[in-house]
Amino acid sequence: MKGRDIISIRDLKKEEIELVFSVADSMVDIALGKKESNALEHKILATLFFEPSTRTKMSFESAMLRLGGRCIGFSDIGATSVAKGENLHDTVRVVESYSDAMVIRHPKEGAARYAAEISEKPVINAGDGSGEHPTQTLLDLYTMKKAMGGIAGKNVLLVGDLKYGRTVHSLARALSLFGAGIFLISPRELEMPEEVKKEINIEAEGERIEDHIREADVIYVTRIQKERFPDPAEYAKLSGRYRIDSKLLEMAKKECIVMHPLPRVEEIAYDVDSTEHAWYFREAFNGIPVRMALLSLIMGVVE
Ligand code: NCD
Repeated sequence: MKGRDIISIRDLKKEEIELVFSVADSMVDIALGKKESNALEHKILATLFFEPSTRTKMSFESAMLRLGGRCIGFSDIGATSVAKGENLHDTVRVVESYSDAMVIRHPKEGAARYAAEISEKPVINAGDGSGEHPTQTLLDLYTMKKAMGGIAGKNVLLVGDLKYGRTVHSLARALSLFGAGIFLISPRELEMPEEVKKEINIEAEGERIEDHIREADVIYVTRIQKERFPDPAEYAKLSGRYRIDSKLLEMAKKECIVMHPLPRVEEIAYDVDSTEHAWYFREAFNGIPVRMALLSLIMGVVE
């Protein structure tokens, strides 16, 4: 996988995703700080964040630092030459000469693909508008494998904003590849886009969690993506539509896990945190070993 761009989850074959997972397994102790590594010594990762981020940016940085590498980057375009009118093309041309790989998050769909066309160095898409978020999918699948032992034949409810949520666009494609049963639960206004639907196998589609919660092995909850709505009134109408709480989870299987890419706003009540169902914080941690593995593979220090 040396030198590869990771723009869409479709860029990865099943065997490559499994390779990332087996490398990630070998890196958990390093991710936990129990073991030291200098595998990425002298390597530099650039992070270009044109949109807010907590986990994605910091977990890429932590992954890099835990492997002895270094990071440069920005997360406030107001402090960069973008504020002076520099375009994405020129920013990418310059940053590639400063680093060994770059991670980019941008509000426009297609921006990461465009950056990859410009850059000779590997580009990783950390979210392009409502497009995709492939590394989130890698850690999501890894988390499901850890929790359930496998993904094939498991029933996954994707809940919330399936229209604008980029994590579910990547995840649905990967779940299909791994043979999971996909249940799409969203308000009608926020349905999964047709272009994604035609690429995946759908068990059922509807608006109510209650209709399928008993069959669920995973409930993957997403935030209504406020920043993508053209009309704030439309957001106001749909926000708060779904709320998973411990009462609702009494209907679910004992071993059903609840996941969320985070940040949560109001979709998961705090009373879920202390239940056996809550997997979202473990999911967030898994971003470290998974991103360590991916960086090691694309930077060519692991094969
Ligand atoms: C997600 C994103 O940015 O798409 N966050 C993340 O990377 N974990 C989800 C979201 O913002 O709702």
